[in-house]
Amino acid sequence: MKTIFSGIQPSGILTLGNYLGAMKHFVPLQDEFNCFYCIVDQHAITVPQEPAVLKDNVRRLAALYLAVGLDPEKVTLFVQSEVPAHAKLGWIMLCTSYVGELERMTQFKDKASGRGESIPGGLLAYPPLMAADILLYNTDFVPVGEDQKQHLELTRDLAARFNNRYGEVFKIPDIRVAEVGARIMSLQDGTKKMSKSDPNQGGFISMLDDPDTIVKKVKRAQTDSEGSIRFDKENKPAISNLLTIYSLCSGKSIQELEAMYDGKGYGAFKTELAEVVVETLKPIQDRFHKLFGSPELDDILTAGAKKAADVANEMLYKAEKAMGMARL
Ligand code: TYM
Repeated sequence: MKTIFSGIQPSGILTLGNYLGAMKHFVPLQDEFNCFYCIVDQHAITVPQEPAVLKDNVRRLAALYLAVGLDPEKVTLFVQSEVPAHAKLGWIMLCTSYVGELERMTQFKDKASGRGESIPGGLLAYPPLMAADILLYNTDFVPVGEDQKQHLELTRDLAARFNNRYGEVFKIPDIRVAEVGARIMSLQDGTKKMSKSDPNQGGFISMLDDPDTIVKKVKRAQTDSEGSIRFDKENKPAISNLLTIYSLCSGKSIQELEAMYDGKGYGAFKTELAEVVVETLKPIQDRFHKLFGSPELDDILTAGAKKAADVANEMLYKAEKAMGMARL
C-alpha cells in the first residue's frame, strides 16, 4: 500500500483555503492509502507563539482533522513534537542543505522580510525539517496546496543528495497538488493567497467562522466593475476565486455556475455563495465542537504518536547508520 504524508501548522485557525486546498483532499485518500497526517507544531514555533494559544491551536487542529472526516482507525494522526525522530532527522537534513538554497525559498524570503537582523534561525531551517517529516515515512506522495511546491522540490533534492552520498536510504516523494483550489486567494485581494496570518480578517474565512461572519465577509469580498460572472484568472482574479470556492463547496462545475449566473449581478451570486460556504462548514463545525473537549482526542493523539514513532525510528536508524552515527 502506498504511503501519504501531509502536515498543517497549528499557527492560527485554519482558513477555507487550508480546507479546500489540502484538508478536503485528505479524506478520500484514507480509504486507499496508508496516511500520516501531522500537526507540525515545531514548524509553527519558527516564529514566536504565545504558549497558551499554541496549546489550544494544536488541540483545535487535531479536532478539525477529525471533524472533516478523517477516521483515526484508518489514518495516523499525531503531533510532530511528540515524535522526536522529526527533530533528529531535521538536523540531518539541515546538514544536508546549503544556505544558498534555503535563502532562495520564497516563503523564507516572505517571512524574513522586514525583520532586519532578527530573522529567527528556525525560518531558514524550516524546509529541511519539512523534508524530514516526509522522508521518515517512506512517503510516496504528499498532498499539499500550491504554495508548498518549492519546499517539496527541495525535499526531493535533499533526499537525492543524501542517497548519493550515503547510499539508497530515502524514497523520493512525489507532490500531489489539487487541480482546482490549490491556491485559494484572499477575499480582499484576488492576487494574494488566502492566509490565516493575514492581519486583514476580511481576507479569509476561518473554518470556525459563524454564519453571520461568513455572510459579511462574502458580501464585502472584492469584485470588479465589469459586473459579469465568468472565470478569467488574468482579468477577473477576484470573481474567478469566488467561482472556485463556490464550485468546490457545491460540487458544481465552473461552467455550470457561469451558466447559472449568466445575466445576474454580483449581489445574488454572493448571497448564494455565502449559503453554500455556510452549508459546507456547518457539519464540520458541529463535529468540531463535540470533539474539541473530549478525552478521546488525547487517546487518538497518544496512539498516533506511538504508531508514527515506530515507523519513523526505523527510518531514522537507517539514515544514522548510513552516516556512521548509529553505534550498534
Ligand atoms: P500550512 O499550515 O501553511 O498549510 C496547510 C496546507 O494548506 C495549504 N494551503 C492552501 N491551499 C490552497 N489555498 C490556500 N490559500 C492555502 N493556504 C494554505 C498548504 O499548501 C498546505 O498543504 N509547510 C507546511 C506544513 C508542513 C508540511 C510538512 C506539509 C510541514 N511539514 C510535510 C506537507 C508535508 C505549511 O506551512 O502548511
